[in-house]
Amino acid sequence: MEVHVKVSAEKFSSVQAQMYVMFVQEGFNAEKVCKDFASKTTFSFKDYFAEMEFTGKVKSVVTFPVQLDNRVVHFSFVGVGGKVCPVGIDRKEILRRGMGSVIKATRGKKIKDVAVLIPDESIFEMEFEKVVEQLTTISIMAGYQYDVFMSKATKKSINVHMIVSKEFKKDAQFATECGTIVAQAVNTTREYVDTPPAHMTPVIFAEKVVAQTKACGIKTTVFDAKKMAQLGMNGVLGVARGSVQEPRFLVGEYKTAKKGAKTIALVGKGITFDSGGICIKPSGSMLTMKGDMAGAAAVFNIACALASLKAQVNIVAVAPVTENMPGPDAQKPGDIVRFYNGKTAEIKDTDAEGRLVLADALSYTVDKIKPDIMIDVATLTGACEYAVGPFFSALISEHDDLSESLSLAGNRTGDRVWRLPYTDDYKEAIKSNIADMANIGSGNKAGTVTAAAFLQHFVGDVPWAHLDIASGDFNIPVSYFDVGSTGVSVRLLIDFCLHYAK
Ligand code: BES
Ligand code: MG
Ligand code: ZN
Repeated sequence: MEVHVKVSAEKFSSVQAQMYVMFVQEGFNAEKVCKDFASKTTFSFKDYFAEMEFTGKVKSVVTFPVQLDNRVVHFSFVGVGGKVCPVGIDRKEILRRGMGSVIKATRGKKIKDVAVLIPDESIFEMEFEKVVEQLTTISIMAGYQYDVFMSKATKKSINVHMIVSKEFKKDAQFATECGTIVAQAVNTTREYVDTPPAHMTPVIFAEKVVAQTKACGIKTTVFDAKKMAQLGMNGVLGVARGSVQEPRFLVGEYKTAKKGAKTIALVGKGITFDSGGICIKPSGSMLTMKGDMAGAAAVFNIACALASLKAQVNIVAVAPVTENMPGPDAQKPGDIVRFYNGKTAEIKDTDAEGRLVLADALSYTVDKIKPDIMIDVATLTGACEYAVGPFFSALISEHDDLSESLSLAGNRTGDRVWRLPYTDDYKEAIKSNIADMANIGSGNKAGTVTAAAFLQHFVGDVPWAHLDIASGDFNIPVSYFDVGSTGVSVRLLIDFCLHYAK
């Protein structure tokens, strides 16, 4: 379902919509809130709320049909709780999930136009524009469904009208434009991830990214296997050996017009299908492994969004892209690989392939791009789901300021991160007797952290943060997601980069 968000300064009750949405505080006065509709209906909102015991309590939503003059419309009331936010409640998320369930409720109904009365922003600890922007992004995200292969896909589109007062109309319009760009980046990332692996091979992925980034004014360079061999990217090539699909290595650069601007490198894991390789996964665990390129899809979509938003910071998006398959020439446990920066690793488990491809990508980025900061985004470890899933991504970094900024961006956007412990002790786990390191930790503990310890060998002196998004990339039970991908990290990193630019 396509969702288009518009701004209107019309009177709420005069907008010709089939669904009217209001966010109400606990103990709200039903007669007051609904007074503009009173002349159009004999329906008693007050009695209905009493009947449903709806008081505006946090996490409560009611949707019901009402006869207005000679038409039937729907009303949706989202409770946001009282003036004081209860401990443990993230009220921004209440707003987002409320909006998500409202949009979901339009599915299967003949609703074309949804009117949303923008609530008083003060209780959300956000500026008015941010409320509009968040509601916009969430509305469009909630409309996403992957139905490319459905013979009878419903081609529905709805308009969401944000109702604001005249004086705020211009600001609100700008906010919806920004919110739309963010949502499109999220949804396009989801499309990449949801696409079946046969339709998203490394070669196809590269072609799509080149075309998409070109359209936003980003130049993307693509290396093939021969070029990677010249550069010594044996981490990527080693993983690619088991597959008949050719690997690719992508570098996309957005340059701001601002002089002396800083450069952020975003490195994404791009395994278009992870079978585990020779250490093959059980079939149940393989089912979502078309999504093992979620990091790579995210970084290019983030770069595109930042280019469209004219962010005053340079962005370099980098991704190693390959399948991990157990073909006849696949690398084997016991093999030793030498990476771009000359370091070696003993392959103890071919299923720990993400760190191998990222090793080349991170060291290449440090060497050639020399960014001010570097963040990698990867569906790296199943352990991440156990550590922080499904509502957070795991953050590992030795830099407190960088971690704090990422954490704040997570809280602002709802695309949240949780920092895991990371000290020298964890780095011991990946020691090898025959190479510089092993590609899995010993003892099977804190797998998400030991994976980061491996990556650290490839980041040099660049301030670096690692985001493991394996926890939240697929099938997350939140109203504004659907079954399938989520586009995790896209909202987070767009916001982070915009703040870093300031
Ligand atoms: N792509 C997987 C991680 C993953 C698991 C992502 C579940 C999303 C959901 C990664 O390549 C992997 O297989 N990791 C191994 C590492 C282990 C062998 C040290 C894992 O987590 O089992
Ligand atoms: Mg794997
Ligand atoms: Zn993987």
